[in-house]
Amino acid sequence: MKIAVVGTGYVGLVTGTCFSETGNQVVCVDVNEEKIKGLQNGVMPIYEPGLDVLFNRNVEEGRLKFTTSLKEGIEGAETIFLALPTPPGEDGSADLKYILKVADDLGKLMTQYAVIVDKSTVPVGTAELVSAAISRNATVDFDVVSNPEFLREGVAVEDFMKPDRVVVGTGSERAKKVMERLYAPLVRQGNPIIFMDERSAEMTKYAANAFLAMKITFMNEIANLCEKTGANVDHIRRGIGTDSRIGKRFLFAGIGYGGSCFPKDVQALAKTSADYAYDFRLLNAVMEVNKDQKRKLLPHLLAYFGGDLKDKTIAVWGLAFKPYTDDIREAPALENIRELLDLGAKVTAYDPEGMPNTKALLPGVTYCHTAYAALDDADALMIFTEWPQFRTPEFEKVSALLKNKVIFDGRNLYEPEHMKELGFAYFSIGRET
Ligand code: UGA
Repeated sequence: MKIAVVGTGYVGLVTGTCFSETGNQVVCVDVNEEKIKGLQNGVMPIYEPGLDVLFNRNVEEGRLKFTTSLKEGIEGAETIFLALPTPPGEDGSADLKYILKVADDLGKLMTQYAVIVDKSTVPVGTAELVSAAISRNATVDFDVVSNPEFLREGVAVEDFMKPDRVVVGTGSERAKKVMERLYAPLVRQGNPIIFMDERSAEMTKYAANAFLAMKITFMNEIANLCEKTGANVDHIRRGIGTDSRIGKRFLFAGIGYGGSCFPKDVQALAKTSADYAYDFRLLNAVMEVNKDQKRKLLPHLLAYFGGDLKDKTIAVWGLAFKPYTDDIREAPALENIRELLDLGAKVTAYDPEGMPNTKALLPGVTYCHTAYAALDDADALMIFTEWPQFRTPEFEKVSALLKNKVIFDGRNLYEPEHMKELGFAYFSIGRET
């Protein structure tokens, strides 16, 4: 099948690359000339494990191409994926200007039937708006379907190639057949393609992300209560996660959720609710709790240093919002570092992938080549991302390098008992300190 993917951000690149891997002819389109030039020369604009291998193979074998010309990109395409940004506007609602502009252009450029696929996370009713925008100028038949993406950064290729489910919103039998053909190689193990109407598909994506954000937030609140009652959130997690109705995953308490999706999508769903005069109280609570959660460790740090961080050097392990990504959007580390700098502290930091992106935003930080280099002569260590290399450090080295044996751990990487034995003052989330 010939496929066009408009937008070469995270979702677009993964979608285009993975569909070329299943044998389709894919052209990725983007208005950003520099990015397209880079991609044509094999430069990957994002860090995503495993993507480069697929990318190189399919480029080499001629199935994956890049262009800045929408006209050229959609030539002969049976499906046209829209993977465009939907940044939050001032009121929290998703801004559809990029999607609707491309829809308008498509109406003018399409010369044969195509299925236009909304892959971006878009508010309920967007498929209808896209359809109306294309209709204004279209001279050929087309269908607009909603096909939200559920991939996680860091494991995006695996999530795309082996999805738990594929959700497709469409009322058109013709479009349904095209989507079935396209996804057939990815659902061979019996994982379903779930067909529904467009509005339900759009809402499914928001409901999934909001539910997961709520699940994490619930555990964060349990953790906060554990700290007051003397219970241990790790035990609670195991105790409830073994109930199959609850499930083991996404129950890890920590320094709050971040990333480009959960914060934006929870906010956008709250805005949709408000637009329909529905007071979705749970969502508001999730946003409020997460905002506080990101600052959970600061009071402990301040108390430890008698309320004064001037001339203190704080080592930071982890900048990315989670491991296996260089994405620092809404990362708890950033907010904490800003606060540390405001309070007069110096910050030395290390992250295996997140440093280039952070350098641009926070030039006042000293970036180090290794985790241990960040500890050299620092007064304390704060941990914000659970990169595997932070899980079993050489504690002897850590204590020799740090001026004080104290760790503030936002990801519960170590056992409090063990830390006590090693002589560290250890602050984590929802466990004894
Ligand atoms: C999330 C969803 O998991 C994907 O299904 C969805 O497709 C994607 O958003 C999107 O809308 O594009 P992602 O943002 O890549 O994926 O990251 P997650 O792995 O879901 O983690 C989100 C945040 O939750 C991270 O800050 C992570 O540290 C935090 N988290 C996760 C916890 O604090 N505890 C947990 O138990 C799990």
